[in-house]
Amino acid sequence: MSAGTTSQGFAAGFGESPEVAIDDVPVRGILPDWLEGSLLRNGPGSFQVGERRYRHWFDGLAMLHRFTVSSGRVSYQNRFLETEAYRAARDEGRIAFPEFATDPCRSLFARAMAVFDPQPTDSAKVNIAKVAEKFLALAETPIQVEFDPVTLKTVGVTGWDTSNFGRMTTVHPQLDDARGEAINLVTRFNASSQYVFRHLDTATPGATPTTLARRRVGEPGYIHSFGMSERYLVLAEFPLVVNPVSLLLWLKPYIENFRWKPERGTKFHIFDRQTGAHVKTVTSPAFFAFHHVNAYDDGDDVVVDLVGYDDASVIEAFYLHRLEEPDARIPPGTLRRFRLPLRGGGKTVTGEQISPTPIELPSLDYARMNTRPDHRYVYGVSLGDEPGFYDRLVKIDNVSRTTTTWRAEACYPGEGVFVGRPGREAEDDGVVLSVVLDAAAETSFLLVLDAASFTETARAELPHAVLHGYHGQFYGEVRPT
Ligand SMILES: [Fe+2]
Repeated sequence: MSAGTTSQGFAAGFGESPEVAIDDVPVRGILPDWLEGSLLRNGPGSFQVGERRYRHWFDGLAMLHRFTVSSGRVSYQNRFLETEAYRAARDEGRIAFPEFATDPCRSLFARAMAVFDPQPTDSAKVNIAKVAEKFLALAETPIQVEFDPVTLKTVGVTGWDTSNFGRMTTVHPQLDDARGEAINLVTRFNASSQYVFRHLDTATPGATPTTLARRRVGEPGYIHSFGMSERYLVLAEFPLVVNPVSLLLWLKPYIENFRWKPERGTKFHIFDRQTGAHVKTVTSPAFFAFHHVNAYDDGDDVVVDLVGYDDASVIEAFYLHRLEEPDARIPPGTLRRFRLPLRGGGKTVTGEQISPTPIELPSLDYARMNTRPDHRYVYGVSLGDEPGFYDRLVKIDNVSRTTTTWRAEACYPGEGVFVGRPGREAEDDGVVLSVVLDAAAETSFLLVLDAASFTETARAELPHAVLHGYHGQFYGEVRPT
């Protein structure tokens, strides 16, 4: 798609990206002298394959990006993830694998055969994690793609489960370097479906994931992330659910098999993080979320912060044809807090809204503040009242319950990634990095915000547009020589 096919300024972020490497990206402003390392980001690199276009923001061919900051200079490289999905697109001009909301063109015979020989996509485009010293591009299918963090070349594939058949996972594993563990949720879809928490001992070289906890489920929900406190794992099961048999028939794109059933409410399944034992399930009125923010223990309660929506219509709002409508509106998610009682007979919980500010792609100083009750600041992208796409960054203080905003004319920022100043004491002593689309110029820049004041200190300007991505991480140790 070219930007000209829609009147929306942010459309350049739904087109195609060239593969480039730039040694010295022009910088305006002053980079902090302590900021050294690389922001690695993942997201779609192209929404177009041959004559076909992907249908949804969560589709597309995976592209990795590396912004390296060193000695006050910025270098940049991007590269498509060298997967089977990418090779089929590049070499044959075809969409070969089902994505979130786009299926390949298949004959009825091929659809029938897909039941017995499912081919989950390996286009791992959603997040990045360093797990047991491996840099992984993460997908919602169990196929995780290892890559070189400097060259961004694909190294191989690994996975959270023993099989890819009829299984999905989250792109938000919980990582605890102090305990040497990584935990992720896998949903196994079949006649007796299960949620399974898989645990990896990241301190033992060569270790493979084992099952920590499991729970049977009749109609599994679409689960994008989960919560983890010091003592518990929290699976928030929203009532966007699927008949697993119909899903395995795969007669329509993955997410279109799910149905919103608000009468079920949202169930919080709580598991002991150490033993995997199911502790309790409590229910709240129905809501939907992609992203947990934090969870912490508080006496006999577990407190869960997440970005909640009143229903799951946000998924439909991200179809490209919907985003192209002049009056396109994205339902606003808000930061919400749920207190889950572990003791006593109560099984109903209610939440409170921490802030009315719309927020998505939430992030925090994860390494330091995850699981802590004194966690204060949440960073994210946000929306105004007018139609359009995420056009500002916000910092929500969940103690004072105030919001600070950064925005610029015709600019569309991606996820804000917090990088703490070494030796910091204040939680927000650092910077927030975001890749921002300048719709007027149809180019993107790496934005460096002072996290405390939430004001711009520098930007590094690329000559091309980076498509609207999802998630990334900053690694101080990734420094090309
Ligand atoms: Fe996500």
